[in-house]
Amino acid sequence: NKKAIGESHSKLILVGEHAVVYGKPAIAMPFPLKVRATVKESKGPIKFKSSLYRGYIYEMPNEMRGIEECIKETLNYLNKPIRDLHITIDSLIPIGRGLGSSAAISITIVRSLFSFYRQKLSKDILFSLVTVAETYAHGNPSGLDMIASSSEYPIWFKKGKESMTIKIREPFHIVVADTGRTGNTRRAVTNVKKRYDLEKSNIQKSLAKIERIADESKYALVNGDNNLLGKLMNLNQQELINLGVSDDNLNKLINVAINAGALGAKLTGGGLGGCIIALGRDLEHSKVVADELVKSGVEKSWYFSTENERLY
Ligand code: PMV
Repeated sequence: NKKAIGESHSKLILVGEHAVVYGKPAIAMPFPLKVRATVKESKGPIKFKSSLYRGYIYEMPNEMRGIEECIKETLNYLNKPIRDLHITIDSLIPIGRGLGSSAAISITIVRSLFSFYRQKLSKDILFSLVTVAETYAHGNPSGLDMIASSSEYPIWFKKGKESMTIKIREPFHIVVADTGRTGNTRRAVTNVKKRYDLEKSNIQKSLAKIERIADESKYALVNGDNNLLGKLMNLNQQELINLGVSDDNLNKLINVAINAGALGAKLTGGGLGGCIIALGRDLEHSKVVADELVKSGVEKSWYFSTENERLY
């Protein structure tokens, strides 16, 4: 029986979320929570299975429209009928927490379908097919998620421009804590737009500051200055508060991380729920920060070292 597998992983935005929608630069990196899609032959309408939904693709709930469209677009592109397949998603990425689960799932679907039909997949085609799904999920996606979820290295990203990988000089350790509350990227992006229309000069100032923060963060990474990177993450958080995408619970957890000695901390992704990230001083200290966050009630925390690419 014919079978094919496609894989991908989650991502973290280090700095620059939201401003990236307005053409400013952002820095994101792969985060090794994995997702896998398996495609098998099966007679009849396409069956789909994941922890969120099990059934036929034409009956998917509204919030999964992006995935349905991604499957259809990919099969149209491959000139294959939209039937006779069984697609299974196994994902360790929590949904709606700013870790890029929607982009990662779409990437695995496109990869697995191309592999099933033994077709070569270029980055450009992958991105154009995933954009279909991301547009349903986000409304006006910058494309940052899908690029970071398909990259093996930290990337420097500007909407509509070629992204660049960043060569980091010194390893760093990043703590991720999941509030357990689903963020709402679409709502957060809409809120920023409303604020932009109402208080243009205030929001433009924030966007310009975030642009400088992203530039300096790239400098910090390339020069191995983790203290500077931490400071810049803190400054970025202040601007995210001004954009209206943080909330009391995120701010509280960020303070917990800072009080535990983190070099910097901020929300990551769309905000209004989801995850925070904090920069640990070293591996041992990252564990301390991660444990403190759990004591403060986060649903889950991880820490990740770029030194050995391991997730703890
Ligand atoms: O919440 P996430 O992981 O989908 O991140 C969204 C990042 C934003 O900058 C807020 C939106 C975008 O399209 O880039």
